[in-house]
Amino acid sequence: MRILVTGGAGYIGSHCVRQLIQDGQDVVVIDNLSRGHREAVHQDAPFYQLDLADTLRMTAIMREHEVEAVMHFAALSYVCESVRHPRRYLKTNTAGTIHLLEAMECAGVKRLVFSSTCSTYGIPDRLPLDEHSPQRPCNPYGQSKLAVEQLLRDLVKADASFGCIALRYFNVAGCSADGVLGEDHDPQLRIIPILLLTAMGLRESFTINGNDFPTPDGTCIRDYIHVDDICSAHRLAITGVQSGVSRFFNVGLGHGYSVSEVIGSVRRVTRKAIPVRIGPRREGDPAELFANSDRIRSELGWTPRLTKLDEIVETAWRWFKSHPEGYRSRHLSHETAISHSRSSYPLDEIHARQPLAVR
Ligand SMILES: NC(=O)c1ccc[n+]([C@@H]2O[C@H](COP(=O)([O-])OP(=O)(O)OC[C@H]3O[C@@H](n4cnc5c(N)ncnc54)[C@H](O)[C@@H]3O)[C@@H](O)[C@H]2O)c1
Repeated sequence: MRILVTGGAGYIGSHCVRQLIQDGQDVVVIDNLSRGHREAVHQDAPFYQLDLADTLRMTAIMREHEVEAVMHFAALSYVCESVRHPRRYLKTNTAGTIHLLEAMECAGVKRLVFSSTCSTYGIPDRLPLDEHSPQRPCNPYGQSKLAVEQLLRDLVKADASFGCIALRYFNVAGCSADGVLGEDHDPQLRIIPILLLTAMGLRESFTINGNDFPTPDGTCIRDYIHVDDICSAHRLAITGVQSGVSRFFNVGLGHGYSVSEVIGSVRRVTRKAIPVRIGPRREGDPAELFANSDRIRSELGWTPRLTKLDEIVETAWRWFKSHPEGYRSRHLSHETAISHSRSSYPLDEIHARQPLAVR
């Protein structure tokens, strides 16, 4: 299949591109590199640096490469940033997807897999969260993704030849098992990268945001899913898309780990000390979030392979140890000139913050 991957220079998109190419698929990547890395894009995938807003060029690329399906990862995905900059999130995640859908329409591409999120659920009434759980996002990030989900539902009703699958990921973690691809965000806002950087002495300490939650050890519980298992869900989804049908699947392990358990895992894997401080709770942080992923298991035959937290952390540790400066480390090790693309949006305001565990 000829597949266009948006956001293929980002964390999850780059892992997925690599797996698709290993499967023998023809892949084209677009990314504006606002938060991704050219170095992360597989050498066998034609790459175009462009923004989702550029409908005309996207249409031309789809036509030129005779694209048959789209995997849409490109987005902004920091909850705390979305609260401060809601317009930015609607513009990129919602309007950007509308531009992409227009390009697909013009180029006659009828098959889409969309990266959605458990943030579309908001604060849960009951756990685990399944696909029937009410969707009441409590931040602009979740709202921007839910708006797309609703649009996709309407589109398949309006055009029976169009079909899509939206995957609602829980907390994606880990890196490719061989340490070639990894997570390189600036700033790092997710718990495992922050803990690993702390283990490496690159951060002073790790702050637990609240240890008085109604959970066994008092810290928040989240469902962590390995990035390669998210990619395998995508590979199944792209062949599982049916014309005139929109389907929505949770992708998580189905059980959670507490913040204290994650700290324990990183200490075990790295064998390093990790200084920890206790901070206040963050507003709107649910005590516990984990998925019921039975639907994707039964309908698409998906089975996660890395189900133990230590295994997930080990893959991330391999990457962080060998890439202390992220993809930049490769240039540094070869003493070549560094041309490093960085965020087109200032993220300074969230540098000092800890990650929001709700994604
Ligand atoms: N990482 C998680 O835990 C998680 C959880 C749930 C959902 N998701 C979703 O998965 C997708 C990928 O997440 P990620 O963690 O790999 O993020 P990422 O930031 O690493 O990758 C996103 C990529 O999209 C590109 N991009 C952003 N805006 C663009 C635009 N306007 N035009 C073209 N390219 C643009 C960025 O440069 C980046 O390379 C996102 O849609 C995100 O919302 C991620």
